[in-house]
Amino acid sequence: MTTLDERATTWLTVCGLDDLPRERGAAALVPDEVDGAAALTQVALFRLLDDTVLAVQQHDPFSDAHVLARGIVGTRRVGEQDVPTVASPMHKQVFDLRTGVCLDLAGKQPVAGRSPDLRTWDVLVVDGQVRVAVAGGAA
Ligand code: FES
Repeated sequence: MTTLDERATTWLTVCGLDDLPRERGAAALVPDEVDGAAALTQVALFRLLDDTVLAVQQHDPFSDAHVLARGIVGTRRVGEQDVPTVASPMHKQVFDLRTGVCLDLAGKQPVAGRSPDLRTWDVLVVDGQVRVAVAGGAA
């Protein structure tokens, strides 16, 4: 298996695919590294209609609340493609679930010091288990 960074990536099983309703979000807590220190970070997992699972940060940079798993899943035309999106349940910003890029600022700015775009995590579904690529080798 190829990972983003063989030295520092672990595939952590977070749930079964069938634990995730399609087109709904779910939150998971994963080990992370923040400024070089071990931390736990909330990720928002989304199972699409085709059973692809995508993961972005649970933290909404516009409302500063951990709410994106409760967002509304949809699609939006970007260039020539329909891309899967989530809209924040707070102020309706729309994010590309594949890249984390904020596609619609909804007239707002993120809270100070935060990027409008979301972090993403690589996800694999193996034997019906959802595995997230997390930082560090200890998980
Ligand atoms: S844990 Fe940070 S807002 Fe919920």
